[in-house]
Amino acid sequence: MSVRNNQTSPDEIPEAVRDVTPVRRRKRNSLRRGGAMAIGFTVIVVILGSSFWEPMVETFSSALETEETISEVSEEMSQEERREDLLGHFPYEEAPPESLTALSSGSTIKLRTPAAEKFVEMQEAAQEDGVSLVPLSGYRSVEEQEDIFFGVKAERGEVPRERAQVSAPPGYSEHHTGYAIDIGDREAPTTHFQEDFAKTEAFQWLEENAARYSFELSFPKDNPQGVSYEPWHWRYVGNQESLEIFYGN
Ligand code: DAL
Ligand code: ZN
Repeated sequence: MSVRNNQTSPDEIPEAVRDVTPVRRRKRNSLRRGGAMAIGFTVIVVILGSSFWEPMVETFSSALETEETISEVSEEMSQEERREDLLGHFPYEEAPPESLTALSSGSTIKLRTPAAEKFVEMQEAAQEDGVSLVPLSGYRSVEEQEDIFFGVKAERGEVPRERAQVSAPPGYSEHHTGYAIDIGDREAPTTHFQEDFAKTEAFQWLEENAARYSFELSFPKDNPQGVSYEPWHWRYVGNQESLEIFYGN
């Protein structure tokens, strides 16, 4: 006599009354249930319409836009950095001719009108103190700077880096802006464009008073740009435009 355990095997129940769902069918049924749920979900989504997707689509596209903006900005910045890096000088645009005024009638030296007016005011104030400020160079075009940079460079047999320590390459001179001026002492012409200008009365007067007229020294000793000390080279920083030009970077 064979001993059977209490567990009934499906094989012992007549096939017709078996209540066993074959595994494959169970899978198929659950697939059907999943399908029904997906259809239901789709119907809900369709009913909700675009209002359901819009925020998601907007978030996604705004993320894409942000990413594009970041890459555009970093591309611009790296171009800017590349330009800034040219031998320690920053790029400047030429002042429009109509923005320039001669420092005196018949003078070929010009500055942007507000800077020209302030320079003349400063010159008169210095004169009252017995100091004679003489303008040596104001606005310069890119073409004029080209002659100065490459002409002197060839004459002295300098490499660009040497030349750039004392003169800006064309397109990179503060003189293009019309806000920069080289100043000398009429009583000490041998110090014109020389470091010794720092020993003159004119320089001493400028150090004490130039800020009252919104002029500042562009290249003091040990300036971060690595340009040589230029006690004669001053720039006007008395209006929004000049500030943006010189400090916007
Ligand atoms: N002389 C200075 C470097 C300039 O032209 O900007
Ligand atoms: Zn200069």
